Amino acid sequence: MDHFTYQQGHLYAESVAVAEIAAQYGTPCYLYSRATIERHYRAFDEAVGAHPHLICYAVKANSNLGVLNVLARLGSGFDIVSGGELARVLAAGGDPAKVVFSGVGKTSEEIRQALQAGIHCFNVESEPELDRIHQVAEQLDCQAPISIRVNPDVDAGTHPYISTGLKQNKFGIAMERAEAVYQYAATLPHLDIKGVDCHIGSQLTELAPFLDALERLLGLIDRLAAQGITLSHLDVGGGLGVNYDDEKPPLPAEYAAALRERLGDRSLALILEPGRAIMANAGVLITQVEFLKRGEDRDFAIVDAAMNDLLRPALYSAWQNIIPVSPREGTARRYDVVGPVCETGDFLGKDRALVLSPGDLLAVRSAGAYGFTMSSNYNSRPRAAEVLVDGDEVHLVRARETVEQLWQGERLLP
Ligand code: LLP
Repeated sequence: MDHFTYQQGHLYAESVAVAEIAAQYGTPCYLYSRATIERHYRAFDEAVGAHPHLICYAVKANSNLGVLNVLARLGSGFDIVSGGELARVLAAGGDPAKVVFSGVGKTSEEIRQALQAGIHCFNVESEPELDRIHQVAEQLDCQAPISIRVNPDVDAGTHPYISTGLKQNKFGIAMERAEAVYQYAATLPHLDIKGVDCHIGSQLTELAPFLDALERLLGLIDRLAAQGITLSHLDVGGGLGVNYDDEKPPLPAEYAAALRERLGDRSLALILEPGRAIMANAGVLITQVEFLKRGEDRDFAIVDAAMNDLLRPALYSAWQNIIPVSPREGTARRYDVVGPVCETGDFLGKDRALVLSPGDLLAVRSAGAYGFTMSSNYNSRPRAAEVLVDGDEVHLVRARETVEQLWQGERLLP
């Protein structure tokens, strides 16, 4: 459930008419709902219930400071993948002690930054990374908290670009190597072994792959315990899917119940890293129709948002619902909804039945995750504004970029 609903024939974000926000801040514009973000975060937090746990929101899904601040105020932890994301979490008031640091290419500088901030744990993705973390911790004369990210080799059944837990993927350490790597880590004095981690992919709509991975991880945890390596947490990553169209992903409550049941009486804290499930349906992208163009083969609605604003349709052939902000009466025509960027791949949706006139506003739904964070300045297009609605209050949480900002830092030759 989210808080983007029609009221008297017009789309509202919580208690505010979307058309009013577009009039004030212009388009394209990302619009987020605080109540929806909070609802989704709590769904995870309450699902795990009394079991010791940390919900580490995956910052890459949406890293706007306003969004991170809403989550930080709820007590959320954060899953980060760069020094930039760590800096954002700190700037937004996040607690570094609730941060886990994932990613295959952590630099020494990023590791230093994270150790100095006092993060909860590094999710280590390779043996050379383990050595690097140890070396930096030695220089700082501290112990680095670590988890090994294990690649459980399960098929997440999702788009190949967002599947991460297969042998051929670059992520994590193969299950067969994991025990040896833990044994090695245990010999390094500046490492503190905390847990085990995995993340098998994104937009999963079934529980089975999660539970397959979990079984393999629990087997590893038990074998390690027998060798005297006791872990205190199990990080199952993110990946729970959302409803873009007619998917029926498991609810956080079903997922958490299945996790808790399989944990049995092992005293392991649970860490979850949801990104999409918290943010996707907490945001929409508002765009205006510039032109309607009759083609030989099909009609085009040319809108002012493009692949640089929302890359998912172009990159993954992702389907996101496109709805009118103020629906009109009339006979629908079928449109490809496309942007102004000079690429055939620049579309937001294809073959959509809509009743449109130039100047109409459209909302691309489920755009709160991997929307703005994947946007770019391609075709020298300033990035969109971001607005966060809270009841009847509207907060501009990122001003639209100016044209001058496009070449900030660039120089003419002397
Ligand atoms: N933890 C790790 C280590 C991850 O790599 C990811 C996502 C997450 C957590 C959060 O996963 P989520 O709960 O959001 O599924 N750009 C793609 C999605 C890429 C996901 C990358 N990793 C898209 O727009 O579909």
